[in-house]
Amino acid sequence: MTRIPSRGPSRRHVLGGATAIAAASTLPTRIAIAQARPLKLGLMLPYSGTFAKLGENITFAIELLIAEKGGKLGGRDVQIIKLDDESKPENGPQNAERLIKRDGVDVLIGTVHSGVQMGIHKVVRETGTLCIVPNAGAVAVTRELCAKNVFRASFSNWQPAYGMGLALGKKGVKKAAWITWDYAAGAESGAGFKEGLEKGGGQVVQTLTLKFPETNFQPLLAQVPGLGVDAVGAFFAGGGAVQFVKEYKAAGLKVPLCGSGFLTEGVLAAQGEAAEGIETALHYGDGLDNPKNIAFRKAFKDKTQRDADVYAVQGYDSAQLLAIGLEAVKGNVEDEANLYKALRAAKFASPRGPVSMSSAQEVIHHIYLRRAEKGENKVIGIAAENLADPGTGCKL
Ligand code: BEZ
Repeated sequence: MTRIPSRGPSRRHVLGGATAIAAASTLPTRIAIAQARPLKLGLMLPYSGTFAKLGENITFAIELLIAEKGGKLGGRDVQIIKLDDESKPENGPQNAERLIKRDGVDVLIGTVHSGVQMGIHKVVRETGTLCIVPNAGAVAVTRELCAKNVFRASFSNWQPAYGMGLALGKKGVKKAAWITWDYAAGAESGAGFKEGLEKGGGQVVQTLTLKFPETNFQPLLAQVPGLGVDAVGAFFAGGGAVQFVKEYKAAGLKVPLCGSGFLTEGVLAAQGEAAEGIETALHYGDGLDNPKNIAFRKAFKDKTQRDADVYAVQGYDSAQLLAIGLEAVKGNVEDEANLYKALRAAKFASPRGPVSMSSAQEVIHHIYLRRAEKGENKVIGIAAENLADPGTGCKL
């Protein structure tokens, strides 16, 4: 049986023998053949480990958007191919290659963990595959290593933590500590927190870390009373965040805990009383009163019996962004110039509020200040309005 090439003629890789068959036909015929088959959409996400629920919610929301579009994007049926990346950076490049070279995906949406993202990034830069990032905030992706085929629909690690630092500085906090996992997301969030706090005249006097995804928090928490700080900021997410917040409360520490919003996002039910009153900053919050959010939360709940969270929003927006691009080129992913042009110009209603793309292909959005109250991350203000990552070093 002749296999229709899974990727188009402008690609530089992996087409093998099937290329010759496609090359023999005319360009319009090739495009027609390529568009007649379903678009292969690779989802490389964590479906196991501490970030499993994050990957699930992203996936459900992508499926929701596609269903809302009648099962088609840019007029093409969509075939989803899922791969559990287990949040293991060491397997990142090989897993991305499996999806692109073995399974022949046209577009890759992935992932959650910044370290794994760097593996994906290496491969998609080499292959030219369109990649939409639905969570991982690794700053290099939209800074010095930015690429014309890579778009981020979520955030950069710098953004929410910078907003939190700004908010603390405005409150007059002079000395803070930062506690996190020792990997890109923790360090880059810490840099944002420090920069925001310093703007208000405060400083980060100590950073305490442990390896990802370890949860042996006790040796770190034991140091907090001796630090002489007015606040502790933290980056943790998923299962690790549940445990950290519970142990912080159980340790009876008097220093207020705050953080990048992932600390309490999607995990409040599991954290219970321990999370009450924690302030965080994020590009989403509960109770955002815009029509898109109201409709999205209902549809997500109906589909999954879960409450939507920022991860679901980012999955939905990754698919919204992809839909905008594919509609502009009528499903022809090979029309890269017009596809990327449409993606760069995209402005759309997200459940988080209106969003647009920066010249580094990073989402621009409000960073909300939230307080955990009775199981909700209630929005209590805007920490930074229409905040774009600086995009330092990106030349697109
Ligand atoms: C990251 O690794 O970039 C990340 C993981 C979970 C939540 C937020 C960021």
